[in-house]
Amino acid sequence: MGGTIPGSTGAPPFVVLGVSAGIAAYKAVDVCRRLVDAGIHVAPVLTERATHFVGKATFDALGSEPAQTTLWDEASPIPHTRLGQRADLIVVAPATADLLARYAGGFADDLLTATLVATAAPVVVCPAMHTEMWEHPAVQHNLAVLISRGVTVVAPEEGRLAGGDIGSGRLADPSVIVERVLGLLGGAPRGHHLGAGTAGGGRSTRDLAGIRVVVSAGGTREPIDPVRFLTNRSSGKQGHALAEAAARRGAAVVLVTTGKPAAGPGVVVEPVETAADMEAAMLSRAEGADVVIMAAAVADFRPKVVQGSKLHKADGVPDLILEPTPDILSELGRRRRQGQVLVGFAAETERVSERARAKLADKGVDLMVANDVSAPGVGFDHDTNEVTILGADGSVTDVPLRSKDAVADAILDRVCALLSAR
Ligand code: C5P
Repeated sequence: MGGTIPGSTGAPPFVVLGVSAGIAAYKAVDVCRRLVDAGIHVAPVLTERATHFVGKATFDALGSEPAQTTLWDEASPIPHTRLGQRADLIVVAPATADLLARYAGGFADDLLTATLVATAAPVVVCPAMHTEMWEHPAVQHNLAVLISRGVTVVAPEEGRLAGGDIGSGRLADPSVIVERVLGLLGGAPRGHHLGAGTAGGGRSTRDLAGIRVVVSAGGTREPIDPVRFLTNRSSGKQGHALAEAAARRGAAVVLVTTGKPAAGPGVVVEPVETAADMEAAMLSRAEGADVVIMAAAVADFRPKVVQGSKLHKADGVPDLILEPTPDILSELGRRRRQGQVLVGFAAETERVSERARAKLADKGVDLMVANDVSAPGVGFDHDTNEVTILGADGSVTDVPLRSKDAVADAILDRVCALLSAR
């Protein structure tokens, strides 16, 4: 027991392992053992009803300290706050429909919910239940509420459920849960490397499984003649990061891009060059999509006439007459189908939030991602970004400077919350 995770110093991370009353509680034993093996101090907390599925004595033996089940069985007069305050992270596996409802509702009527409400530590919930319950709007709504508060969800898998039924709702594999916990704590299991599915943004949740996502990326190129074009500084990195993050999270992704075709596994790339190409590709791809993200920096103007052959200096300075390009995002907003989530970007250098808010309304999107591209390390061609995600519902989510992969995951968290609410 005990120890420190690789790369850390001092006391081992303190993790509360919450176990609620589902048949998958037996798998929490494996989660407990793997976390302890990885050098984590594990404090198990079982709901009273969870002990019908798995014995407290098992967690007493495998955890780093005796398991607790009630608010009343500890010598300490305030166990409901002690654990939550001490925790570096709380993971609940399995999280039943009932537990999610009580947590989303702010109930604190047993030791586990009291600990969840009394903590400022990151919380990971790992739902497990029958497919009908998993798909119930109340459960999905509670999850969306928790996601919007920053709770991480390790989505259940498809597979055999209790009673022999097949469907989604099976607790994620203990190895996936432990990877996620260690990822959030900043470590990795001893002798174990995170797989490709968690590279980059570090997510291992499949919360976009079955969702069709279309992303645009890069600056368009508007030809002047066969060898020259007008363009902008966009590298396409944020759009590519979004496409790859969505694919890691289980989505079927199409990336319409002017950038390098290379993209991660699970992303279908449609290369484009001009605003007109991008418009055609986006309008057609968006028809069947659940989520459309316009991360591209579409040129606002293009030469009205494209010369058929190269312009020559000897012929003098050309009169370059420009015309506006089509506003693809506004058109997507007009055509969008019921339930589709639409996301735009507003790259600005001044009056950033005011302008982004105006575009949110004008273009009819659900989310507008505002970034001040004049700030250091932010926006065009950097590997990092800093954004504010404005919601049509009035929500404001600040995402401080971090990798474009991590920004992509923060945007997709908001998208997931919107999808769950529809
Ligand atoms: O109007 P503005 O260019 O500032 O709006 C930015 C957002 O609109 C981005 O999401 C961008 O992809 C999209 N856009 C578009 N078509 C244009 C210009 C911008 O879809 N012609």
